[in-house]
Amino acid sequence: MKKVHIKTYGCQMNVYDSQRMADLLSPLGFEETATPEDADLVILNTCHIREKASEKMYSDLGRLKPHKEARQEEGKSQIIAVAGCTAQAEGAQIMKRMPLVDAVFGPQSYHKLPEIIARAMRSADKEERRGRGILEVDFPAESKFDSLPDARAQGPAAFLAIQEGCDKFCHFCVVPYTRGAEFSRPAADVLKEAKALVDQGVKEITLLGQNVNAYHGDGPGGGTWSLGRLIMEMAQRLPDLRRLRYMTSHPRDVDESLVAAHRDVGILMPYLHLPVQAGSDKILKAMNRQHTRDTYLRILDQFRNARPDIAFTSDFIVGYPGETEEDFEDTLRIVREVGYAAAYSFAYSKRPGTPAAALEHQVAEEVKKERLSRLQALLQEYQKAFNASMIGRTIDVLFERDGRYEDQLMGRSPYLQSVHVKAPKRLMGEILPVTITGATLSSLSGQLDIIDA
Ligand code: SAH
Ligand code: SF4
Ligand code: F3S
Repeated sequence: MKKVHIKTYGCQMNVYDSQRMADLLSPLGFEETATPEDADLVILNTCHIREKASEKMYSDLGRLKPHKEARQEEGKSQIIAVAGCTAQAEGAQIMKRMPLVDAVFGPQSYHKLPEIIARAMRSADKEERRGRGILEVDFPAESKFDSLPDARAQGPAAFLAIQEGCDKFCHFCVVPYTRGAEFSRPAADVLKEAKALVDQGVKEITLLGQNVNAYHGDGPGGGTWSLGRLIMEMAQRLPDLRRLRYMTSHPRDVDESLVAAHRDVGILMPYLHLPVQAGSDKILKAMNRQHTRDTYLRILDQFRNARPDIAFTSDFIVGYPGETEEDFEDTLRIVREVGYAAAYSFAYSKRPGTPAAALEHQVAEEVKKERLSRLQALLQEYQKAFNASMIGRTIDVLFERDGRYEDQLMGRSPYLQSVHVKAPKRLMGEILPVTITGATLSSLSGQLDIIDA
């Protein structure tokens, strides 16, 4: 048995990609290991979204050096590969800066992993290879999905990528460059992968895409399916599937079929991540978001009308070039108006090659920091209040993993809250009603209504 260590940075799509890489490597005799020291192959699946994320990759590579050298002294080789969005963006530069890297490949090329590894292994110990590793950062004509083996389930909740890439070109964002143009998998492929997961006991599927509601996959009988249609068909065709989610959506791509899916499909969870980024129309325009504050709020109303118990989450960027104190207060105002159940928020990070990086009026780091902490304090108030509103309610919980204590399990509510419950191990993978008795900023605790001794 050979060993592979995969480290994942960034978003859920990268988590999915890492799992698929492990699925590809398993038939080649690679078993996963949690530590890089004993690995024959180390893959860093990187993220390029903010400067910090790509810096982290370089410091992690620096830390791998002594392990690789120690193994070489023992006569054992170690292949180091960089995958993901930083690989796509920086390509050969990574090997130049870090000669210990044997291979660099982008998010659309990882189906070539068996071939990449075979080549890297042949040349790993040769002196003349130095600085001349393997580079795969083209966007290949064939879809990687056609070459991947069946997905292996890793528990009762699974990710399923249905769409990739982005054509929106928000002016701050690298994703359109690292993931390429929008692409939707044919609906038949999605249904097949979903069925394989459900057959392995998966109860909850989260459909993934950089812009998942831009989904327009070929339908099995001709025509194209929207995301709303796909969700309805999945619910009908997979009776053992109990929960569906999707992320991340763009307000521009919300259509009637998606709103209807929230009204008509019981297994579609009443929880929607719909990033707004900022509350000021001036900033939204400068960001090229292609929606205003008002059109965004009206979209939320449509979802609320379709599904009154729906809750929303968002991403925010503070300190976008040109953001004044007034603009920032518009962001605080939209938070109060919507009352988000949870949210991610970031200080704007200048990314090479994006239009916003070249703008004048960049906001000073101290100002960004100060605004971010004010925004986060407000978001946390709402998150705490949302969690506290669950106390006394009985909600369905999908038990997903062991809890903090021996006699506990950890599960997820419909709103993705972590719920700690005293429960026997045999309930793992079940969905059961739990009465919530406690709430903190980040989790809930509760009691199972019925436990048969
Ligand atoms: N496709 C998704 C998510 C993209 S990346 C969407 O459209 O919302 C996830 C989040 O990272 C974004 O929503 C944004 O809030 C943040 N982000 C992207 N680029 C950034 C940058 N240059 N600086 C800070 N945050 C950024
Ligand atoms: Fe980036 Fe905007 Fe595309 Fe989201 S919609 S991935 S933020 S360019
Ligand atoms: Fe990062 Fe690429 Fe995801 S840049 S956020 S890993 S799409």
